[in-house]
Amino acid sequence: MAPWSLLFLTPLFLLLALSPLSAAQDGDGPNSGSARKQKFKEAPEFYNSPDCPAVVSNEILCSSSAVHVAMTLDTQYIRGSMAAILSILQHSACPENVAFHFVSSAATSNSTLLRSTIAASFPYLKFQVYPFDDTAVARLISTSIRSALDCPLNYARSYLADILPPCVRRVVYLDSDLVLVDDIAKLAATPLGGTTVLAAPEYCNANFTAYFTPTFWSNPSLSSTFFGRKPCYFNTGVMVIDLARWRAGDYTTKIEEWMELQKRMRIYELGSLPPFLLVFAGRIVSVDHRWNQHGLGGDNFRGLCRDLHPGPVSLLHWSGKGKPWARLDANRPCPLDALWSPYDLLQTPFSLDS
Ligand SMILES: *[C@@H]1O[C@H](CO)[C@@H](O)[C@H](O)[C@H]1NC(C)=O
Ligand SMILES: *[C@@H]1O[C@H](CO)[C@@H](O)[C@H](O)[C@H]1NC(C)=O
Repeated sequence: MAPWSLLFLTPLFLLLALSPLSAAQDGDGPNSGSARKQKFKEAPEFYNSPDCPAVVSNEILCSSSAVHVAMTLDTQYIRGSMAAILSILQHSACPENVAFHFVSSAATSNSTLLRSTIAASFPYLKFQVYPFDDTAVARLISTSIRSALDCPLNYARSYLADILPPCVRRVVYLDSDLVLVDDIAKLAATPLGGTTVLAAPEYCNANFTAYFTPTFWSNPSLSSTFFGRKPCYFNTGVMVIDLARWRAGDYTTKIEEWMELQKRMRIYELGSLPPFLLVFAGRIVSVDHRWNQHGLGGDNFRGLCRDLHPGPVSLLHWSGKGKPWARLDANRPCPLDALWSPYDLLQTPFSLDS
């Protein structure tokens, strides 16, 4: 289309002129990873609308008037994380009131480098990077399963109550392969009632049995954990968590106990999801499905393009094996990947080659 080509012409020439500069900054040092190889553009500054609650800027990471977002951060997914951050700011009525809490692997990530990469693209962002002690959780990960799902950082979501400061009472946890197209404050404000710890979209039509092994179901002392509950699958990539209640109920220990058991007997096949289901399924507040249009990565089939589920959309989630940035780079995007690219901050002449 004509408007697109006009838009793209100027940046293309600019980038071609700049490319020797960016090449000079590529991959020095050990473990340079993709954060080094990739160069990101600076996002614009976003401003609060007049009726936003006042939050003291240097207290925002602890403020109860802020919307607290937790995400993991690593070199492999940083392009996805950047797109997610941009989408959150762009659709917030009060973007200056969003506080980001990033968890990075202490063992494999350079948090100084991640911090400066984020700060370079989002100079006005209110955020903190917390190193996550992978070794503690690696000990608990069943060695029989080896896949991307077993990256220790995947389990960081179980430890947010310990990692984030006690002053953060409620947090929205988000995966790095998603974008929001609605105001995150609405999701964060999900009523949790008097006692509920967690809210997420639930999928009661999914075959819940399939998430656990026959060993689990045939052992009444294990499967009875679901007695008196109506357990439904929920995706742990989008969750509203009351951290104060989580801490009070010591849910981290409850999750770890199931992980300990998994090490001794195979009770499930996947990684970080089943312990969440064991502890929380049937005990969560259900969030409208618009807040997690998941599976856009094509589930477990590489190369499969998925369509949106029926109904409105507030959040698009490329869960599954295919990621939009990888498919765009390979020049084999799925149709819905076009909804991700407007949030892509990667600065490279090659992505304009197509
Ligand atoms: C981490 O990154 C910073 C900034 O790029 C660099 O100065 C430092 O040497 C790095 N540390 C390690 C251990 O690689
Ligand atoms: C649900 O999954 C279990 C275990 O994989 C299977 O045995 C059962 O037939 C499935 N039920 C339905 C309704 O698909």
